[in-house]
Amino acid sequence: MTSSLSALTVCLMLLLASGFPLERRGGAHPAAAKDKRAQYAARDDVNIIAHGLLQLGQSLKEHVDKTKVQMRDVFTKLKVFNRSTAELGRQSQRLQEQGETLRARALEMEQREAQLLNITAELKETAEDIQQERRTMSERLSRLEQRVDRMLQGHRNSTDAGNIQLLLQAQNRRIDDLVEHIRLQQDKLDKQNMRIRTLQAQLSNQQAPLQSSTDDPLQSSVEEQRDTPLDMAADCHELFLRGETTSGVYTIQPENSEPFNVFCDMVADGGWTVIQRRHDGSVDFDQLWEAYVKGFGSLNGEFWLGLENIYTVAKDGGYILNIELSDWEDNKASVQLPFELGGLETNYSLLIQQSDTFSTLQSSLGADAVLGLPFTTRDWDNDHKVNINCAKHLSGGWWFSNCGRSNLNGRYFQSPPPKQRHQRKQGIFWKTWRGRYYPLKSSIMMIAPAAIKKS
Ligand SMILES: *[C@@H]1O[C@H](CO)[C@@H](O)[C@H](O)[C@H]1NC(C)=O
Ligand SMILES: *[C@@H]1O[C@H](CO)[C@@H](O)[C@H](O)[C@H]1NC(C)=O
Ligand SMILES: *[C@@H]1O[C@H](CO)[C@@H](O)[C@H](O)[C@H]1NC(C)=O
Ligand SMILES: *[C@@H]1O[C@H](CO)[C@@H](O)[C@H](O)[C@H]1NC(C)=O
Repeated sequence: MTSSLSALTVCLMLLLASGFPLERRGGAHPAAAKDKRAQYAARDDVNIIAHGLLQLGQSLKEHVDKTKVQMRDVFTKLKVFNRSTAELGRQSQRLQEQGETLRARALEMEQREAQLLNITAELKETAEDIQQERRTMSERLSRLEQRVDRMLQGHRNSTDAGNIQLLLQAQNRRIDDLVEHIRLQQDKLDKQNMRIRTLQAQLSNQQAPLQSSTDDPLQSSVEEQRDTPLDMAADCHELFLRGETTSGVYTIQPENSEPFNVFCDMVADGGWTVIQRRHDGSVDFDQLWEAYVKGFGSLNGEFWLGLENIYTVAKDGGYILNIELSDWEDNKASVQLPFELGGLETNYSLLIQQSDTFSTLQSSLGADAVLGLPFTTRDWDNDHKVNINCAKHLSGGWWFSNCGRSNLNGRYFQSPPPKQRHQRKQGIFWKTWRGRYYPLKSSIMMIAPAAIKKS
C-alpha cells in the first residue's frame, strides 16, 4: 500500500515538471496565440489530473490508516486468543491430573475391598477349622467314655484301678490341649474381626468424599443416612471398636453423663481411656478437692481427668486400671489392677478386688484398697493416718492409706531430685518399684474394660 502511494507521488511530480517549461516559453508572438491557448488547455488537464491524483492519494492514505487500526485490533484479539488457549491447555492438564488422582483412589479402594474379601475368606476358614476341632474333640470324648465304660465293666473288681486312672489322666491332658487349641483359634478370630472392623471404617471414610462429588441425588441421600451420627461412644474402647485406631483426643459420653473430652491410647487390642499423665512437671498437681473431682491440666500434656469423669466411665464395674511408670534411666514398669470406683457418696473410694496373689508391684496400691480406699486432698482428709493428712504432709491428692505406699500425683522433681529426704518424699513414688524416696520420671494411668489385655 505504501509503495503504490510513493509511485503515485513520483508520477505527480513528473507531470508538474513537464508543465512548467511550457508556461515559461509563452511570448507575445501572434502566431503563437493559438498555440498558447492549446497550451493552457493542456495545463488545465494536467491540473485536473493532478488534483484527482492528490485526492486519490489522500483517500489511499486514509485507507491505509484505517487498515492499520484494524490490524492492530486483529493482533490484540489474537493475543487474547493465544492467552486463553494457553489457559485452556493448563486447565486440561489440571483436569487430567485430577482424573488420575481419582483413578488412583478408585484403585486403592478396590485393593482394600479385595483385602477385606481376603480377610473374610480367612475368617471363614478359621471358623471351619474350629468347628472341625470341636467335632474331633467330641468324637474323642465319646470314644473315651465308651472305653472307660468297657473297662469299668470288665474290671469292676480287679486291681487295675491304677491303670484306669493313668488312662484317664492321659485323656484329660489331651482334652486340655484341645481346649487350649480352641482358645488360640478363638483369639485369632477375635483379632481378625477387629481388623475387619478397622478396614470397614477406613473404607467408609474413603467412600464418603469420592461419592459426594457425584450428583446422583439418590446416592447422596443414601450417604447421608449412613452418616447420621450414632450415639457417642461411652469410652475409648468403644471408639476403638467403631474403627478409631489413632491415639488422640476424642469426645465420649458415658451413660447418664454430659459429653467430655478424653485422651485415648489406642493399641492393637483396644482403646484405653487415659485418666492421668505426668511427664514434665508443667502442671501443678497440688490441687484441692474440687479440682480433683472436676479434673485439671491439658489432655495433650499433663492432666488429671477428674474423679467424677473416671467414675462415670467405670461405674458399672468390670474395668481394669493400668499404670505405666518410668524412672530416670528409662526403665519401665507396668501395674494392672482390676478395680471399682465409688461415686461422690463414697468419696470416690477405690476398691481393688481381693487377691491372694498381689504381685509386689501391685501391692503398693492394691493391698490397701481391698476394703475400699477413699480419696484424700489437703482439704478433704479421708486417709487412714490419725492426726495427719497425707495430702498436706506430702503433696497432691491420692487414695492414701498411711502416707507411704504410693502417690502418683505428688510433686514433679526434675533430675537430680533434692537431697533432703523430707523434700524428696513429696515426689511421685511407687514404693514397691523404685522405693519410697525415688521421684519417678513419668506416670500414666489408664482404664479399659477388663476384657482387653495390655500387650
Ligand atoms: C502465543 O503464545 C506462544 C507461546 O505461548 C508464543 O510463542 C507466541 O509468540 C504467542 N503469540 C502471540 C501472538 O502472542
Ligand atoms: C490373602 O492374602 C495372602 C497374602 O496377604 C495370600 O497369601 C492369600 O493367598 C490370600 N487369600 C485369598 C483367599 O486370596
Ligand atoms: C468279682 O467279684 C465277685 C465277688 O465280689 C467274684 O464272684 C467274681 O469272680 C469277681 N470277678 C472277677 C473277674 O474277678
Ligand atoms: C467424705 O469425706 C468428708 C471429708 O473428709 C467426710 O466428712 C465424709 O464423712 C466422707 N464421707 C464418707 C461417706 O466417708
